[in-house]
Parts: sequence; structure tokens; C-alpha cells
Amino acid sequence: MKTVTGIAPVNIAVVKYWGKRDEDLILPINDSLSCTLSTDFMCAKTTIMASPTFPTHRFWLNGKESDFNNERLNNCLTESEYPFHAMQITSKNKTILVRKRANPKCGDLLNWKLHICSENNFPTAAGLASSAAGYAALVSTLSALYNVEGDISAIARRGSGSACRSIYGGFVRWNKGAKPGGEDSIACQIASASHWPEMRVLILVVSDDQKKYSSTSGMKQSVLTSELLKHRAEKIVPGRVDEIIKAIKLKNFEAFAKITMQDSNQFHAICLDTYPPCFYMNDVSRMIIELVHAYNDYQGATKVAYTFDAGPNACLYLLQNDVDEVASLINDIFPSNTNPSEFIRGLPVKLKNSNNLRETLKIQTQTPNKLRYLIHTKIGEGPQILSEASEHLLGENGLPKNS
Ligand code: DP6
Repeated sequence: MKTVTGIAPVNIAVVKYWGKRDEDLILPINDSLSCTLSTDFMCAKTTIMASPTFPTHRFWLNGKESDFNNERLNNCLTESEYPFHAMQITSKNKTILVRKRANPKCGDLLNWKLHICSENNFPTAAGLASSAAGYAALVSTLSALYNVEGDISAIARRGSGSACRSIYGGFVRWNKGAKPGGEDSIACQIASASHWPEMRVLILVVSDDQKKYSSTSGMKQSVLTSELLKHRAEKIVPGRVDEIIKAIKLKNFEAFAKITMQDSNQFHAICLDTYPPCFYMNDVSRMIIELVHAYNDYQGATKVAYTFDAGPNACLYLLQNDVDEVASLINDIFPSNTNPSEFIRGLPVKLKNSNNLRETLKIQTQTPNKLRYLIHTKIGEGPQILSEASEHLLGENGLPKNS
């Protein structure tokens, strides 16, 4: 029997991935760039146990047994399960090259069935990039089990496109690549987690009961119908990626922030340009956008940047020195009935009265509970393998400890 447990981070894109040129291999139409967040406050954890006595593969996700015959889970497994050689497989009438990457020394281990148990340490209902962290945890833990060497971001990409960026810490670029088989559609680190230690992130979890369109189906419809998507991918993203890399390397926050906001806005414009349109932001999201611009205008400098993925939650990038003031302002504008230690999570925040500032910005206090909570976090490292047996999510009997 062999058991391995690993954790992987969430990443939040500042130049978004939106649109695939190959649905099956998950190959994007544009490069994207993200920041990996610390696993201290948000991460996915996976335990994989391989045993000659297990009759079948089994999979538990957030405490519930789930179907192992999930196409994306199997794509990740197939790419990492067998000896290292290149072979042709046929998929949806296309012949693609798949590199099977396990270390040949694994021997019998490769024939043993797997029990996989995966959990997020933050509510999945919040829709916070949980699949990126989840697949990155799955693939990095599988790779540790089978001693896979070299880049594994292309394997994680088969689970969920954005998951390939969670394979690295710090500031990460996903190169769209050009090869039909996707071998060069991989992520790479452009600056380490320690490169810009002042960078902070506030995740604002917005209350929302709406039914969501998944990113997968939303981007598919955008590729089919949006002219703006083509324009962005061809004419805008290449320059934007170069510019933001320059801003990150020089630690130029103003340039970083402006590109981040413009790219988020353009991504949501594409969603509106999609036919029928998909709406991810809601009134609270738009209120946060107005608040950030009002605050930056008042400061006479771009101190805060927002970005929104396929949901209403805001991710704010800002520097350490500005966190207390911005978090206090948000706390004043969006009161909550939740107790303060539950409302503001993660790294410490010193709240102060920001009534005067709120009035200067001409923003009214909202009715309570429009925000569910706020997570204060920072840039962090990539996936890690946890060696303590107490970390395993599966007990000696191969079943989840928490069930
Ligand atoms: C808006 O990676 O969730 O968060 O590849 O179909 O699984 P699939 O999509 P996914 O899309 C993420 C879209 C985004 C932007 C981004 O993270 O770059």
C-alpha cells in the first residue's frame, strides 16, 4: 500500500484565459497570467492511496463519494499512470500524442487501484477557483505517487485549464502553445512568491443565489459567437501579457493594477458580447468596481485593482500598507451580521472607523449581508507534499477519515 497527501493553491488570473481552440485537450486561444495565492488560507488537499487489495478505483470529493468515470479526472490519470513513452491514442476522431509519464521503477504500483479523497479548505459554494486548486492538488499528488519528473502543468491542464497555473507559486504565465498535441501549452513561473512581498489580496465573497453558467460552457459559447473575443486574443492579450510581466518584474503596482482591471473589464465585456450573453458579475460586484475607482481617484494614484472571474466575487490586489484602510472601508460600506472574526478571515487586519472617508467618496452604507465574508491573503508557493500521516484524508482502511 502507498499513501501520498498533497495540497495545492488557488490562482487568480490578472490576464484571463477565456476560450479554447481544442475542447478535448483544453488548449486556450490566448496566453494568461495569474498570481498564486498562499495555501495558508485557501487550498485544496488530496490524499491518494494505492493498494493491491482495492477492487476498484474510488473517489471522494468534499466528503461525498463521486463518480470515478469523470472524463477530466481520467484524462489526468491516463497522462500520469503508465510508463514513460509516447503513444498515439484516438480521441473524438482525432489522433493525439499522449506522453505517459510515470517512472518505470513504479512496477506493480501501476496496476494497483486508487482511492482518491479531495477537499477544499474554503467553501466551494463561494465559487473561488476551486477546480484549479483541486486538479492541481490531484495531479501533483498523483505525480508524487508515481514519481513523475519534469513539468506536470500540462497534465493539470487536462483537468481544468486554469489548474495548470496552480502548479507553480508566485506569478505564473500559461503559454497557449502552438503544437496540436498541446505539449507546449504549459505554465511557467515568471517571478517567485517572494519577489513582491508587499503584494496583498482581498477576496470579497459576494452573497449570490443565482444559478451559474460554468466557465467551461460560458467560454465555449463565447468562442462560437463573440467577435470581441477574437479581437482580444489576437490583438490585445499578447501586448498586455508583455506589459504586465514588465510591471511585475519592476514591481510597478500602478501598471500592474491598470492592466488587471482593464483585462477583467474586457473579459466581462466578452461575456456580454457572447450570444446569448452570460452575466457573471452582479450589482454588488459593480458597486465594488465603483468603490475601487472612487478610492483610487481620491488617492490620486492607483492603489487597488479589482478582478472578477466567472462569478460575482471580487479579488482585490493591493499593497500591504493600504490593506487596513481599504478593508475598513469595505467593512463600513458592507455591514454584516456575521461576527467580525468570521467576517474578516486570513491575515490580520486592523479595522478603523472610515465613516469620513466613506462620506468623502459619496458611497452609502449598504443593507447588511451583501458580502458574506472577506479573505485577506498574499502571494504564495505552489503545491506541496505533506509527509505527516496525520495529514492523510484517508484512514488505514482506505476510507475518508471525515465521513
Ligand atoms: C474566468 O479553468 O475553470 O477563471 O478549462 O473549462 O475548466 P476549464 O475552465 P476554467 O476557466 C477559468 C476562467 C477564468 C479565467 C482564468 O482563470 O484565467
